[in-house]
Amino acid sequence: MCGIVGYVGDRSALPVLLEGLKSLEYRGYDSAGVALPLDGCLEVVRRAGKVDELIAATAGSANGQHSGIGHTRWATCGEPSESNAHPHRDCTGNLAIVHNGIIENHVQLRQELVAGGHVFHSATDSEVVAHLVEAHVNAGADLLDAVRLAARELHGSFAIVAIDARNPGAIVGARVDAPLVLGLGDGEYFLASDVAPLLPYTRRVVWLADGEAAQLSPAGVRIVDLEGVEHAPSSSEIAWDREAAEKAGFPDFMLKEIHEQPRALRDTLRGRADASGELTLDELALSPEDIAGVDKIFIVACGSSYHAGLVAKYAFERWARIPVEIDVASEFRYRDPVLSPKTLVVGISQSGETADTLAAIRYARRQQARTVVITNVVGSSISREADGVLYTHAGPEIGVAATKTLTTQIACLWLLGLWFSWARGALSPEAAAEVIADLWRCPEQMEEVLADDSRVREVAERFAPAEGFLFIGRGVGYPLAMEGALKLKEISYVHAEGFAAGEMKHGPIALIDKGVPVVAIATHSRVLGKLISNIEEARARGASIVCVAQKGDERVLEVAGDVLVVPQTAELLSPMLDLIPLQLLAYHVAKARGCDPDRPRNLAKSVTVE
Ligand code: G6P
Repeated sequence: MCGIVGYVGDRSALPVLLEGLKSLEYRGYDSAGVALPLDGCLEVVRRAGKVDELIAATAGSANGQHSGIGHTRWATCGEPSESNAHPHRDCTGNLAIVHNGIIENHVQLRQELVAGGHVFHSATDSEVVAHLVEAHVNAGADLLDAVRLAARELHGSFAIVAIDARNPGAIVGARVDAPLVLGLGDGEYFLASDVAPLLPYTRRVVWLADGEAAQLSPAGVRIVDLEGVEHAPSSSEIAWDREAAEKAGFPDFMLKEIHEQPRALRDTLRGRADASGELTLDELALSPEDIAGVDKIFIVACGSSYHAGLVAKYAFERWARIPVEIDVASEFRYRDPVLSPKTLVVGISQSGETADTLAAIRYARRQQARTVVITNVVGSSISREADGVLYTHAGPEIGVAATKTLTTQIACLWLLGLWFSWARGALSPEAAAEVIADLWRCPEQMEEVLADDSRVREVAERFAPAEGFLFIGRGVGYPLAMEGALKLKEISYVHAEGFAAGEMKHGPIALIDKGVPVVAIATHSRVLGKLISNIEEARARGASIVCVAQKGDERVLEVAGDVLVVPQTAELLSPMLDLIPLQLLAYHVAKARGCDPDRPRNLAKSVTVE
């Protein structure tokens, strides 16, 4: 969950590193640092706090170095502080490393290194890497070999980048279970946790595979595995442009990403579902015969991705008539789920790096289950682990709270559900074509909802001082209630709970008092009448009712104090539209309370530890 960056080339390295760290800040922002070779020594600057603190601290620094490494941290081992900030140096101070991940055997390694005379200066697990690399350099290895040999001794997950002031023309990286991508420029090279820092300079990248190490110097790139066997670099082009990774005029990434959803949905559907009802999902690597052999589906994910799975379960079961179980990945992997070659396990992870989801997919494969993953990041770890991959094509999502990646995950899941329905003969071609036509209407309908942003803002600002919110829904509105509550609490730090409206009388109704905002997802469904009764119960106890509802629905108008209007669509597709007012509500409450929606406290975009 930390962000790392490295550069070697003709440019002045410091601005490249600082700009790169700014674009990686969503991965962690409790401290930051850089290391640059200067006259045979390393200049290391580190600061607690956001990257801006580091930028201020380096303002007067020399700018002539042509290589360097940088890091922005999200603490896992050792409190957030300057002494625990990366880069970490070896005993000579000439060699430094940055690290993303967790070294599980750091205690034992530290003891051995201390016994061998190494002196430590931080409480982090990462510092052992600097000293291990130093030990191998002292034994005669060059930096690439030293990093590779050190990596072999580490247990856990890591991406490392190292630099040695005695050979300033090279940087070396290695990865196991944590992302690291190489950027190939013209005589200049980059290493980073994701492509954002590379985009201003190049779109040509090499995704380092698990267990590979790379040396970058003006002479080129050398890649070896951890045994030292040479691998030929295989490069690909990134389609995302620089603008896509910036805010494009919006005050925050989150708001920009909320507004990008119609475009993202079109991109996700394009080439896969055409208006005539044809589906093309070759990337799934699942033939109709394979599907016919599947008797149960498990969906595993974390956070908002888990909510995407909950939404999809309703559609899968109704359309394809196949049982679907869903688990948070951290529970699935440890509870001995019963899997077989007839089970399909669907992993959902926007980043493709979430440790628990990745482990759940690996577990499923070990049990001989078939696996499909849905991710936004091409080349991410999870995409390399599964039998089939559906990419969400949402573009980079920088805001920590998932928005466009969630709606596009849901779209991918629906396509998968339709594919199953078709292969199992559970839904007629006409009915499937109708769903696809409705789905293709969604982007335009989402634009309509977005155009009503000022109405959501007005409601949000009125309720922003509230101490707690309740979200209720039935049917497919139930997971939306959970997502609405999650969004609100993660970015505005207001207590919020989402639950099935039918459960209200079994406990949550005790929380209702005069003026408590209750947000009901009250769009058309077979259970709307029952939901309205639950709304009445809340209203009778003084709650202020906010409903997400369809245009002109008189029944809802009668019980709601405020209505956030969405256009009409099929019941199962309603999440695509209903999620937008919920996202906007959370966003505007956060802004009204003075919170930074892009960087919520204690949270990270990508959770690469358990
Ligand atoms: C973090 C993020 C959430 C995200 C979850 C799962 O907690 O803050 O927004 O939903 O991880 O991430 P994934 O990349 O696996 O979808």
